[in-house]
Amino acid sequence: MSYKEQKYLQRPRHHTSLKKPLCVVLTVSVISMLLVCTHLFPRHGKSSSCHGLSSSRGCENAISALLPAHIRKLTIKEIAARAVVRDILRTPSLVTQNSKIAFLFLTHATLPFEELWDEFFKVTWGRTSMVDAEKRLLVNALEDPENQHFVLLSESCIPLHTFDYTYRYLLYSNVSFIESFVDPGPHGTGRHMEHMLPEITKEDFRKGAQWFTMKRQHAVIVMADSLYHSKFSKYCGPGLEANKSCTADEHYLPTFFSKVDPMGISNWSVTYVDWSKRRRHPKTYRAHEISLEFMNSVSSEEMSVHVTSLGEHEELHRPCTWNGIKRPCYLFARKFHPDALDTLVNLFPNYTSPVV
Ligand SMILES: *[C@@H]1O[C@H](CO)[C@@H](O)[C@H](O)[C@H]1NC(C)=O
Ligand SMILES: *[C@@H]1O[C@H](CO)[C@@H](O)[C@H](O)[C@H]1NC(C)=O
Ligand SMILES: *[C@@H]1O[C@H](CO)[C@@H](O)[C@H](O)[C@H]1NC(C)=O
Ligand SMILES: *[C@@H]1O[C@H](CO)[C@@H](O)[C@H](O)[C@H]1NC(C)=O
Repeated sequence: MSYKEQKYLQRPRHHTSLKKPLCVVLTVSVISMLLVCTHLFPRHGKSSSCHGLSSSRGCENAISALLPAHIRKLTIKEIAARAVVRDILRTPSLVTQNSKIAFLFLTHATLPFEELWDEFFKVTWGRTSMVDAEKRLLVNALEDPENQHFVLLSESCIPLHTFDYTYRYLLYSNVSFIESFVDPGPHGTGRHMEHMLPEITKEDFRKGAQWFTMKRQHAVIVMADSLYHSKFSKYCGPGLEANKSCTADEHYLPTFFSKVDPMGISNWSVTYVDWSKRRRHPKTYRAHEISLEFMNSVSSEEMSVHVTSLGEHEELHRPCTWNGIKRPCYLFARKFHPDALDTLVNLFPNYTSPVV
């Protein structure tokens, strides 16, 4: 394996009275993240076709698969999943003075905006090398009971607010920030596959960016799930040339949470991205395109945008509310070119000064 991985631990903040570190930062390469997924979610999925081995009532299942969940009989696995999810959601959140947020950086190699993140965390970062990266990204973050919220970021992400603002926004939110919307187009519901029945119907299928923030209970639920994950891991992703397009990244969590805890997620991502050009990749901002006005407008934006693959102008715009109050949508933004670093470091104190 030739992946790189670093773990950054925040030291106590000298300008506050808080004694404990308030966040844990992990960076991990894309390769190891893929390994995380394969290790955490063993494939238990079975075909529900008439020739399937999943039960002696294969054909019956295939027929009932076409019915909506409230009419058809749930499978044993679905009933088990519901029980587990219900119990985990019933455990109270334990947000205390010492609660931390785990920042998980999914990177290709180095972190180009390290200096900007330094500014955000206001620390010199300690570095420890780690082995067994695949186990440690989420597992390691979960192992610390003080980690109450988990943030997945890419190397091209930047912070839009101060650490304190971000900390309060995430820890005291009553939902996880996971984007989830219906895209009726070819890159949305068009990617639904029959293999996903009966548990995931076309109507259940959702889309959203992979850059989530998640409450602890939700992270535990994700770890516990193999039923829904197997529906995606088995038939999507690299290696299956013909079906490569059903990128699990963009559909698994949005679909999973809209099924198991729809009220528990925001339905928008707190990481801003610009898809307005409708290319294969979102816009990458270069240094010359960044001004204080631009940064202020992104950090104070109160409407989230969801771009569907239906047509030229098919966008959903929704207001952002935080615990019922209108609030700016975004805490982070992507994608930024490394040449924007100096500009951003200079502007950081200005665009993060009181917005709300
Ligand atoms: C792709 O998915 C379709 C069903 O949606 C299936 O019939 C086909 O065999 C899959 N192809 C590969 C290469 O897995
Ligand atoms: C998110 O969307 C689902 C539908 O998928 C809806 O039931 C739920 O109320 C929405 N969540 C919030 C917080 O609005
Ligand atoms: C979050 O808070 C808002 C406002 O109080 C409330 O309407 C909503 O139901 C809450 N959601 C959850 C999942 O507790
Ligand atoms: C940023 O704020 C500082 C102090 O308030 C000010 O001196 C500086 O001119 C501002 N920079 C920009 C680009 O507005």
